Amino acid sequence: MSASFAQVLVAREEIETGVSRLGREIAETYRGVPGEVVLVGVLKGSAVFLADLARAIPLDLTIDFISISSYGGDASGSGVVRIVKDLEQDISGKHVVVVEDIVDTGLTLTYLRKTLGARSPATLRTVTLIDKAARRLLPVPLEWRGFEAPDAFLLGYGLDYRGIYRNVPDLIAVPDVARLALHPRSLVEELYPAQ
Ligand code: IMP
Repeated sequence: MSASFAQVLVAREEIETGVSRLGREIAETYRGVPGEVVLVGVLKGSAVFLADLARAIPLDLTIDFISISSYGGDASGSGVVRIVKDLEQDISGKHVVVVEDIVDTGLTLTYLRKTLGARSPATLRTVTLIDKAARRLLPVPLEWRGFEAPDAFLLGYGLDYRGIYRNVPDLIAVPDVARLALHPRSLVEELYPAQ
């Protein structure tokens, strides 16, 4: 595969090290603090990250999921979002940790913080696997971040392109999205020829 089409940005071993560090940092924040800790995964992108992160946090905690989408169908577009699937539990008085895959413009997280903050959690913090800080349109608090990423389209480790590639174990940067759009099904075979 040509270097300009797609490259491994963060390999699985490095992801594992980063997720372990985040787990330790989150555990240190809440150790000995009264009240329930709830990890809130933002579907679907954060599902893979959350599964690994939750097992790296040596604390009692619960897990819940929320799913949001923009009215245009792309949560990173206008920032006009709605809840597609809400939490199942009442978060009032609990320590909420929003688990994001990527914070890009910050519009999605701003909406989530406003919506969840209105439900009176004891605390509301965010962990993101990827921070695309250079693309931020709205400043938004981020307590923990795994990796800073350049302004390229990313997929793998939960991140998708048109619904596929979430199962790719590394984080892949795709500077040439137009080429991916032409051959969306060829990337995995080209990146992982032996598998
Ligand atoms: P924001 O509202 O612009 O911060 O966008 C956040 C959401 O956009 C993330 O949770 C992702 O679902 C999606 N997103 C942003 N950048 C990428 C990317 O490079 N690959 C896949 N999804 C992305």
